Amino acid sequence: MIDAKSKKEKRFDPLVTVFWKDDYVMMIDQTKLPNRLSYIRCLDHNEVANAIKKMVIRGAPAIGVAAGFGLALTAVHSSAKSVNELRNELDIAFKVLQSSRPTAINLVWALQRIMKTSKESKSIDEVKKAVLNEALKMADEDIQTNRRLGATGAKILKDGDVIMTHCNAGSLATVTYGTALGVIRAAEESGKHIRVIATETRPVMQGSRLTAFELQHDGIDVSLIPDTAVAYTMSSRKIRYVIVGADRVLRTGHVFNKIGTYQVAIMANLYNIPFYVAAPLSTFDFENSQKNVIIEERPAEEVIRIGRKRIVPKGIKIFNPAFDITPPELIAGIITEKGILKPPFEINLNR
Ligand code: MRU
Repeated sequence: MIDAKSKKEKRFDPLVTVFWKDDYVMMIDQTKLPNRLSYIRCLDHNEVANAIKKMVIRGAPAIGVAAGFGLALTAVHSSAKSVNELRNELDIAFKVLQSSRPTAINLVWALQRIMKTSKESKSIDEVKKAVLNEALKMADEDIQTNRRLGATGAKILKDGDVIMTHCNAGSLATVTYGTALGVIRAAEESGKHIRVIATETRPVMQGSRLTAFELQHDGIDVSLIPDTAVAYTMSSRKIRYVIVGADRVLRTGHVFNKIGTYQVAIMANLYNIPFYVAAPLSTFDFENSQKNVIIEERPAEEVIRIGRKRIVPKGIKIFNPAFDITPPELIAGIITEKGILKPPFEINLNR
């Protein structure tokens, strides 16, 4: 017999975005979503770097793990005759993977962590084993981290809350479970019913193609709005919180996230809707300042066409930045796996 409590509780089996199988890397091809759920197999680090560049895989934590697996491919399939030769191969793979996308810190964080492990090992076999183990460990940690982060954030949500989110910070942006959408999943798993409002997120449409897809996949209530409907939706619906992910969080609390996040944050502040960021500590960058972080500019084609159809007159100049920076004064809190960081961020981070 099912009692009232267990009847409400859910346990999700969210999509797994990237994994290691039979000595190769498998990933969901996100360029095919929502129409086809298919997987590609990457055979070497060049294929992984290409997949990251073309956004077959995207989302800060997911590209970090994928890049880690890229190094593991180099190590595991190497026929190097000496440790030095193997280290050279890893250095080359490191550079190729590092240059695949510039803004999300998780990419370089993951690569550096694995390179460090490789340097601590002495023989060819030890290096191979250490690199693969570290990459697998990172993938596993990502899942545990998201679950902890989700459970922390879920505490602020109440049954019936409506949450607005932007872009995709879900299972498809991580190994699985998600950061911002991990908070929603954890709330649902604790028996709360949450309604999500997702923005389309032009021009790559991570909101409509990915967030809507993965929430529907898990049976979570989601409505989609055009990016242009954010202010009107905030003014006319009862939105409890905005929760988004992050690609990089600076010591000062400045948050680099998908283009459009900043304007959603401004609007949320105007309507007194608390604006939260959900990000694991691997997304924090304690070294750089705003001026030395590269904001990726994506190809003009993303703006010029929808699918194959041209929607812009020929000869029009295009500016297509992929990320923006939300200043700390617009952020109510940053949900991490270690707790919710409240402003003033710089002071509280030091603690
Ligand atoms: O260009 P993308 O799709 O790789 O952008 C990254 C993102 O998915 C978002 O900015 C997200 O909010 C942060 S990743 C959890």
